[in-house]
Amino acid sequence: MTTPATELDWNNLGFAYMKLPYRYLARYKDGAWQEGGLTENSTLEISECSPCLHYGQQAFEGLKAYRTKEGKLQLFRPEMNAERLQRSAQRLLMPPVPTDLFLTAVKEVVRANADYVPPYGTGGTLYLRPMLIGVGDIIGIKPAPEYIFTVFAMPVGNYFKGGLTPTNFLVSTEFDRAAPNGTGAAKVGGNYAASYLPGKLAHERQFSDMVYLDPATHTKIEEVGAANFFGITKNNEFVTPLSPSILPSITKYSLLYLAEHRLGMTAIEGDVPVAELDRFTEAGACGTAAVISPIGGLQIGDDFHVFYSETEVGPVTRHLYDELTGIQFGDVEAPEGWIVPVD
Ligand code: PLP
Ligand code: COI
Repeated sequence: MTTPATELDWNNLGFAYMKLPYRYLARYKDGAWQEGGLTENSTLEISECSPCLHYGQQAFEGLKAYRTKEGKLQLFRPEMNAERLQRSAQRLLMPPVPTDLFLTAVKEVVRANADYVPPYGTGGTLYLRPMLIGVGDIIGIKPAPEYIFTVFAMPVGNYFKGGLTPTNFLVSTEFDRAAPNGTGAAKVGGNYAASYLPGKLAHERQFSDMVYLDPATHTKIEEVGAANFFGITKNNEFVTPLSPSILPSITKYSLLYLAEHRLGMTAIEGDVPVAELDRFTEAGACGTAAVISPIGGLQIGDDFHVFYSETEVGPVTRHLYDELTGIQFGDVEAPEGWIVPVD
C-alpha cells in the first residue's frame, strides 16, 4: 500500500524506501531500446538465470527533484547522471541508456509522483533511483541478452542522521571497497556489496560510515561508503581526493566549481594522505543522498582526529552547503545548465 502523500511527516523523512504510485520502465531487446512508459507495478519478473542476479551485471544512479519556493519542480544536473550511467554501462558491457531516454524517464516519474515531492522549506526532496539490469537466460560469464532500465522514486530527508550537525566516521584499515583498476569509478552494485561488512562494523561502533583508503597503498583517503570526501585548509583551499577507484561524484564536481567561483577558494583534486589531516580545518562527506554532511571526527586505528568540532558545522562547510542547496532549491542563481525544470 502506498502511504497517501497527505499523511507524510515531511520534516522527518530520513532515507527509506517508499512505494510510490508510479515508476518508469523500458526494455532493451534485439539490440534496441523499446518504447518505455510509466507503470504501477513495483515488482520485476525476471529469469532466475539473469546475470544481474548472479554476476552483478547492473548499474544504478541517484539524483533528486526539488520543489522551489514558487512550487515548481526541478532537477539538479541530471545529464551528468545520464552520462555516468552510460560510463558504468560500458564498464559492464551493458547497452548505454541514451540521455534523452534517461531524462524522459526521470521527468515522467517526477511528474507522475508530484504529490510526493516534499514541500519547499522542509529540506526534503524526491530521491530518484534509475537502474539498469542485465536479464535473460545466460549462465556463462557473458553479457545478458536483454536489459531493463527503470526509475523509481521516494521522498527523502537526511541520509546521515546528523544533517548539518557533524557526525563521526571510521577509517577502514581492514577492507577496501574497490580495487586499483576495478570498478570503483562505476556506480555498480558490487562496490556497495563490498562495503556491507565494513559499513556494519562502522555502524556497530556508532560511526556514520566507513572512510576507505586507496587500495594500492592504504595511505590516502579515497571516499566514504556512500559519498565523496572533502577537506578545507587554513589556506582557503577546497581539497578532494583524485583517484581512479572512487565514484566521480556530481556533488563533488559542483562543490569544486562553487568553491572556486562563488567562494573564491582554491579548488584542488589531489592526494589526501591520511597522515596529513592536520592541514584541514574542516572536513565533510558530499553526495546526492549525503548532500554535505560535516565530519566531526575521524577514527584511524587508536587515533581520533577532530576537524572543526564534533558538535558544530564549520563556517566554510556551511557556506558551501547554503550555496549548493540554495541553487538546488532555486533560491540562488545557478551556473548555466545546472537546473533542469520538470514542466
Ligand atoms: N561515492 C559513493 C560511493 C556514492 O555512493 C555516492 C553517491 O552517489 C557518491 C560518492 C556521491 O556521488 P554524487 O554526488 O554523484 O551523488
Ligand atoms: C546517492 O547519493 O545517490 C547514493 O548513491 C548513496 C546511496 C548508495 C545511498
